[in-house]
Amino acid sequence: MRSTIWAAALAIAGLAVRSWAQEMPTCASDCLVKYLPESKCDPTNMDCVCADLTLMDNVGTCTLEACTLFEALAAKNATATLCKEPVRDRSLVAPIATAITGGMALVFVILRVYESGFRKKEFHWADVWAILAMVSSIPMDVGEFFMMAHGMGKDIWTLAPEEITEVVKYTWITQVFYAPAIMLTKITVVCFFMRVFPARGFQLVCWGTIAHCVLFIVSTTIAAILACVPVEAAWIAWTGTAEAVCFNNNAFWWAHAAINIITDVWILALPIPQLLNLQLGRRKKVYLIMMFSVGLVITIISIVRFSGLITYSTSTNPTFNNVNVATYSVIECNISIMCCCMPAMLSFLRHVMPTVFGSTNRSDNNGKDGSYQVGGTGGRSPFPSNAIQKSVTHTVSYFPRGDDSDVVELMDVEKNRQGAETEEHYNRW
Ligand SMILES: *[C@@H]1O[C@H](CO)[C@@H](O)[C@H](O)[C@H]1NC(C)=O
Ligand SMILES: *[C@@H]1O[C@H](CO)[C@@H](O)[C@H](O)[C@H]1NC(C)=O
Repeated sequence: MRSTIWAAALAIAGLAVRSWAQEMPTCASDCLVKYLPESKCDPTNMDCVCADLTLMDNVGTCTLEACTLFEALAAKNATATLCKEPVRDRSLVAPIATAITGGMALVFVILRVYESGFRKKEFHWADVWAILAMVSSIPMDVGEFFMMAHGMGKDIWTLAPEEITEVVKYTWITQVFYAPAIMLTKITVVCFFMRVFPARGFQLVCWGTIAHCVLFIVSTTIAAILACVPVEAAWIAWTGTAEAVCFNNNAFWWAHAAINIITDVWILALPIPQLLNLQLGRRKKVYLIMMFSVGLVITIISIVRFSGLITYSTSTNPTFNNVNVATYSVIECNISIMCCCMPAMLSFLRHVMPTVFGSTNRSDNNGKDGSYQVGGTGGRSPFPSNAIQKSVTHTVSYFPRGDDSDVVELMDVEKNRQGAETEEHYNRW
């Protein structure tokens, strides 16, 4: 009875409320009519109505129950427009982060390929994994721009349904490529460890870690692709009209993030026992600590990303709220790529700017102090390959000047210590 009176009041009320009610789908204006009497506001006073949070909450909940998803979105858009809610737009956040970190990752990988493939002419498996990581991260990076173009970063109710579908579709694409890219960077790091520390037990643990990563890549990529059957339901199922079988996407990505973090911590801890066994120069220690710090940063980013996943998994405004998670994913992936290319990068910088990055004049010791030359390349180039490394090996082993050598030479220390048997590892990795 009361509500009919209010409905009548509403009908003759201020223009604003009336036009609002007209723009709203019937299911939503019914909700308004139902809850307006509970408010202390005069229906003509839009400012009061908009400021009444209890009323807005009630109408919102009622609308979600009474309306279809499309109607609810339209009602929310009408309300936001009429209440002059600020237009929020964070669509540039993810693309800017992507452009910066993705561009840097690409530069790192290109320099790595130049360094291993063209300058040192020692192409290792680690390089292949790093390239694969870059290759699978590129579609992810590009996907972020398409997501922006279709409205990622804006409130979902300001987007047309077709746009939302496009955003969901490109989100799916970035997820499908994120899964392998992030794990490939970890394999690259483990390969690097295997080159540095040839102890047999450690190699076995590394092989186990690589097997874990490969299996994880295969299983999660397949799962990410088949989030719904049929596949295209992954981006149309949100409308609630598609007939499809989907698994619990949130649970899957939580599990993925948790295992990802555990793997990060594991890889971070992996070389510590080996490091404690080694007599390292100050420079090498600084370098290794630097690498661990970056690894730590990646682990922290994946933890922050995880908390974002948890917080926003039930968000009713994913195109706005999921910007953070999308940004963290891209940053995590691209920084991981940079991190796993750092040894090659430092080696490259030392070559280009020896004074800044502290290359010693290694010829000084060549032929002295029991160092030796292999292959007769010494002296031909400013940075002879084998000969220089061998001579530095001995410097590292017996003289404090070994501080200046880099980690690649660290390998040679080990190689000499452990004899010819480990040469095989070195060549393979
Ligand atoms: C949201 O409201 C604005 C202003 O009324 C309108 O221009 C826009 O088309 C609406 N968007 C959707 C998706 O309904
Ligand atoms: C390195 O040392 C050798 C021998 O002392 C010297 O002939 C050569 O010019 C030095 N090279 C550089 C780049 O300083």
